Amino acid sequence: MMQPDTVLSVRNLNKVYQTAGSWGRPGSKNHVVRDVSFDMRQGEILGLMGESGSGKTTLGRLILQLLPQTSGQVMLEGRELSSMTMQALRPLRARMQMIFQDPLFAFNPRHMVHQILSMPLRLHSELVARHGPVDKQIGQVLAQVGLPQDILHRYPQEFSGGQRQRIGIARALILRPSLIVADEATSALDVCVQAQILNLLLDLRDQLGLTILFIAHDLTAMGLVCDRVAVMLRGRIVEIAPTAELFSRPRHPYTASLLQAIPRIGSRAAAAPFVSAPAKVAAGADMDHGCPFRMSCHWATEACARTGTTLRQFEDGHWSACHREDLELPGI
Ligand SMILES: Nc1ncnc2c1ncn2[C@@H]1O[C@H](COP(=O)(O)OP(=O)(O)O)[C@@H](O)[C@H]1O
Ligand code: SF4
Ligand SMILES: [Mg+2]
Repeated sequence: MMQPDTVLSVRNLNKVYQTAGSWGRPGSKNHVVRDVSFDMRQGEILGLMGESGSGKTTLGRLILQLLPQTSGQVMLEGRELSSMTMQALRPLRARMQMIFQDPLFAFNPRHMVHQILSMPLRLHSELVARHGPVDKQIGQVLAQVGLPQDILHRYPQEFSGGQRQRIGIARALILRPSLIVADEATSALDVCVQAQILNLLLDLRDQLGLTILFIAHDLTAMGLVCDRVAVMLRGRIVEIAPTAELFSRPRHPYTASLLQAIPRIGSRAAAAPFVSAPAKVAAGADMDHGCPFRMSCHWATEACARTGTTLRQFEDGHWSACHREDLELPGI
C-alpha cells in the first residue's frame, strides 16, 4: 500500500527495444527495464547502482517521461503520468528534473548562465506568476547552490567542473521540483569537488525536502548520501534495502560481488574468490525467466533457472530476489 508521503511510485515498469531485422533475419528484442517496482518517500535519497548497461539511465528517463515505456506505471505525487496527455503532463514536468554527469553537454554553449537559468521559467510561466520575477528567482537559486550572483553573463565553458555542476543543479532547482534524478552527477568530478556536490545535494534535500534518485556506479558516494540503495542487474532490481543494511549484510550474491570490488585502502581491490565478476549472458540464454545472475553465481542451483526474479522481503525494508535464504554473504 502507498504511504501518504510517497512522492514517486513505480509499478511493473518495462522497456523493450525492438531492433529491426536485416538480410532476412528477424529483429531482436532488448528488454532493458524489466518489471521494476519501487516507491520513494518525500525527502528520501535512493541510490540506484549496477554495472554499465544494466538499465539505470533508461529507468531514470522512463520515470521522467523522457522515454515512452512499454508497460507499467509511474506515479508522481499520486498522479499516473504515462496515461496523461502532453498538455496535462506539461506542468508536472517541472516537478521532476534531471541532473547530468557533465551538464556542459546539456547546455547550449552559446547561452550565458542567465539564459540557461531563465529559459526553464519562460517555458513554465505559471511559476513566474506564482513565485515572482525571473531575476529574483535566479538570485535565489544561485544562493541555494552556493554560486556568486555575478556569474550571469558568463558562459558555462568558463567554469570548472564543480561550478558547472552547480549551474546544472540550479537549472533543475529553478523549476521547484519535488523529484530529482541525478544520473552519475558526481562521477566526472575529482574526489574533493565530488564531496562538495554530495554535501550540496544533502543540504538541498534537508532544506527543500527534495526526493532524489541518485544513479551512480561509485558505491562510496552512494554510501555517503543515500538512505536506501537499489541494485540493478540486466534491467531488474535484484535487491533494495537501507544503505547501512545493504552494505553490511547483502542478501544477493550480485550485490556482494559489487561490494567486494570496492577498492579499500590497504587491501587489494579484487572481487572475493567466491563470486565471479558478472559475466556476459550466453547467447540464447533465457533472461525472461530465472535469476539474471545465474550464469555467474557461485551458489546457483537448478531452481535459479525458474526463480530469482521477484523481490521478497528478508528483514524489515530489505528485499532481495535471490531465493536462497541460507547464504551468509560478506558486506563491508
Ligand atoms: N535507443 C536504444 N535502442 C536500443 N537499446 C538501447 C537504447 N538505449 C539504450 N539501450 C540499451 O539499454 C541498455 C541499458 O542502457 P542504460 O540504461 O544506458 O544503462 P546504464 O545507465 O545502466 O549504463 C543497454 O544495453 C543499452 O545498449
Ligand atoms: S537466485 Fe540463484 S543464481 Fe540468483 S543470486 Fe540467488 S543463488 Fe545465485
Ligand atoms: Mg547510465
